[in-house]
Amino acid sequence: MSVESVRGSWSNRLGFVLAAAGSAVGLGNIWKFPYMAGKNGGAAFIFVYIVSVFAICLPIVVAELMLGRTSRRNPVGAFQSLRPRSFWVLGGWLGVLSGFLILSFYGVVAGWTLDFMLLSASGSFSGAGGAEIHALFDGLVGNAPRQIFWQALFMVATIIIVAGGIASGIERGSRILLPALLLMLIGLVGFSLTLSGAGDAAAFLLTPRWEEFSGESLLAALGQAFFSLSLGMGVMITYGSYLGSGESLSRSAFYVALTDTAVALLAGAAIFPIVFTFGFEPAAGPGLTFQTLPVAFAQLPWAGLLAFTFFLLLSLAALTSSISLLEVVVAYFIDEWRWRRVTAAWFCGGVTFLAGVPCAVDSAWIERLDALTSNYFLPIGGLLIAAFAGWVLVPAEQESELGTNVLTRTWRFMIRWVSPAAVVAIFLSLVLG
Ligand code: PHE
Repeated sequence: MSVESVRGSWSNRLGFVLAAAGSAVGLGNIWKFPYMAGKNGGAAFIFVYIVSVFAICLPIVVAELMLGRTSRRNPVGAFQSLRPRSFWVLGGWLGVLSGFLILSFYGVVAGWTLDFMLLSASGSFSGAGGAEIHALFDGLVGNAPRQIFWQALFMVATIIIVAGGIASGIERGSRILLPALLLMLIGLVGFSLTLSGAGDAAAFLLTPRWEEFSGESLLAALGQAFFSLSLGMGVMITYGSYLGSGESLSRSAFYVALTDTAVALLAGAAIFPIVFTFGFEPAAGPGLTFQTLPVAFAQLPWAGLLAFTFFLLLSLAALTSSISLLEVVVAYFIDEWRWRRVTAAWFCGGVTFLAGVPCAVDSAWIERLDALTSNYFLPIGGLLIAAFAGWVLVPAEQESELGTNVLTRTWRFMIRWVSPAAVVAIFLSLVLG
């Protein structure tokens, strides 16, 4: 049997793009992007973010896909098979470790979205004021067993999808979840546009306020683009390893980046009209999703349905990202330890669940793990990947995946000079800042 038929593969390019875009579209787009844009000068942030996605991150997406497809391995195996016994394999190890750590806290936050779905359905938000909603949120975060219950449920859903395999698990799940998410998001945007704050929101999202955009904002935009595209930890290496050899990597990468950016912008278009209608602060910060928005929902017609749709949307976005996080770890055990997929999925998912329990007991662990992975592990991983793909692989190796044309030459320049310099800048700013 060929490598592909043993390891599994996507059924076609659309299947791959949906799965990879599902990984990219996550809590980062819907929860993080709008408040970051709010804080950093609105359209100014959005403009720099879009440039970062396409000029700096897109070459790294291509690099990861290339390493995956050319080696047909998980991140550790990819480095090992391309340059045996070199220190570059550290990049792979870091990726597998990051996948495990990110998923451990991601599962807890995703659990909150499930809990809030139930609260919405039971009518807890209708007519509730700010203080009551804060109390609802504090009640959840202060209750470990309740969080562990939802975290376990979310992890089981993640494990079942990953255990199902590439085409019949991850791809099949993404083919349903991502379009459903897009449909709901478009519905929410349509609703938001009928609100009285829609005009102010449009002005906010379209007029750049450079005076609110600092050097730090520049790096925040770069960092957000990086996290949002699931870069630096081998998700795209792993997903690329299941991609058919006929598919164009740059075109696939472009579709993924386009979908991810579109979802972030749509999330902004859904959220800012609400923010302006109720006179909230656009720079409200991370509490926007779980504390501010429900207050607005509570005062709108169809409060329960709106809140339910919004938190369902968030949990679906989290699910298509969490399966990619688990798949990185699972692929490592399948390739390197010859484990069966089902065993690997339940074992890795189970251990990750246990590792996340401290986050449910004390939410300060979420911030610690998030800071460790997004500020250190992902930038270092991304740098290793860019340097390896650009400088260690020889042009013939690069061209066997990318072809010989002007696009490949542009990519080589970007991956050698522009992307690493930008990643170093992000990294230094986060460490020194
Ligand atoms: N891209 C995801 C988001 O926007 C998060 C993520 C990061 C997923 C790294 C996988 C790997 O939420």
